[in-house]
Amino acid sequence: MVTTPLLPSDYLDLVSPLRAGADLRGRIEAVHPETGDAATIVIRPGRGWRGHTAGQYVRIGVDVDGVRLWRAYSLTSPTNRRDGRVTITVKAIPDGKVSNHLVRRAKPGTLIQLDQPTGDFVLPQAKPAKVLYLTAGSGITPVMGMLRDTEFDDVVMVHCAPQPQDVIFRSELHDLVADKKLRLTEVHTDTDGMLDIARLDDLVPDWAERETWACGPAGLLDAAEKHWSEHGVPERLHTERFRPSIVVAGDGGEVTFSATGKTADADGATPLLDIGEEAGVLMPSGCRMGICFGCVSPLKAGAVRDLRTGEITEAEPGVLIQTCVSAAAGPCDIER
Ligand SMILES: Cc1cc2nc3c(=O)[nH]c(=O)nc-3n(C[C@H](O)[C@H](O)[C@H](O)COP(=O)(O)OP(=O)(O)OC[C@H]3O[C@@H](n4cnc5c(N)ncnc54)[C@H](O)[C@@H]3O)c2cc1C
Ligand code: FES
Repeated sequence: MVTTPLLPSDYLDLVSPLRAGADLRGRIEAVHPETGDAATIVIRPGRGWRGHTAGQYVRIGVDVDGVRLWRAYSLTSPTNRRDGRVTITVKAIPDGKVSNHLVRRAKPGTLIQLDQPTGDFVLPQAKPAKVLYLTAGSGITPVMGMLRDTEFDDVVMVHCAPQPQDVIFRSELHDLVADKKLRLTEVHTDTDGMLDIARLDDLVPDWAERETWACGPAGLLDAAEKHWSEHGVPERLHTERFRPSIVVAGDGGEVTFSATGKTADADGATPLLDIGEEAGVLMPSGCRMGICFGCVSPLKAGAVRDLRTGEITEAEPGVLIQTCVSAAAGPCDIER
């Protein structure tokens, strides 16, 4: 009553935003450039942080130009870091709202929203005898979390990046090589071309015997999944994707967001999550790639297409759609 219209917790948030019981938040404490377009963000999580397993990711909510945007980032710090801080390492992509904000504009002291860490791209309890890490670009991040956390007797890494200076964590990787804790092959795609997965026979002759963790662009991961399957060892390959594989697009249509009364024209390839955010609608989201169901919204009218499969879903009472992997298939109404 005394604090109406704010709640007492809103005042506590002003003085102690990272306290136990508050919505989970973190404070950016430092930003360390890694390459020309990547940086490590050091975050102090609030009291409710439950800790992570190497290889997992965290969803963070960042305010960019006054809009709260959520994205997922792999944790790159080891799980036993003494100071209680964690790191994510972000590569700025062309036109990327959150990645460019974090790499180029994030300031120490900024508060961000955090979720608990999650994800099953992790190492098994029992250590495999031989390990292969197959990574490209920013796909090195979850694997760096693993490398910093767990030592193996026999671990090989094949990493692709356009040029040597684009290899994130390069000097730390070379230190591991010098200490004989890692065997590393860098593929510099500007000069060597894209990695032909068949080259693994030369680069890592015993690749099929190795428990493998792979993270990188869809082209690399699709090729790896096919290659491991064709050689009868699909269970040895563990992959992490940063974006969904969009295979089908069709005609779009006008989208109505009936709860807010906004409308937008959508093509048949852009996820409704992006369409809604662009239109200024508050859209719930999570992984943005079809795995967490954090974006489900009621489809009130019309039809949408699942961009991964082409499957059409038509509106009927109670139907929920994943807006991050669904595009308009004609006029439709999303209850947001
Ligand atoms: C489980 C998981 C872990 C992740 N870990 C990391 C990480 O450790 N480091 C990291 O840098 N990123 C990571 N990502 C990707 C990250 O969540 C964002 O997708 C990425 O930073 C782009 O967001 P943005 O807001 O800058 O781009 P947006 O503004 O959302 O998109 C801008 C444009 O880029 C395209 N785009 C979106 N995402 C990507 C992408 N990943 N690659 C290429 N083009 C894209 C969009 O289609 C759009 O055209 C992870 C994603 C997932 C699902
Ligand atoms: S945001 Fe995770 S499934 Fe859509």
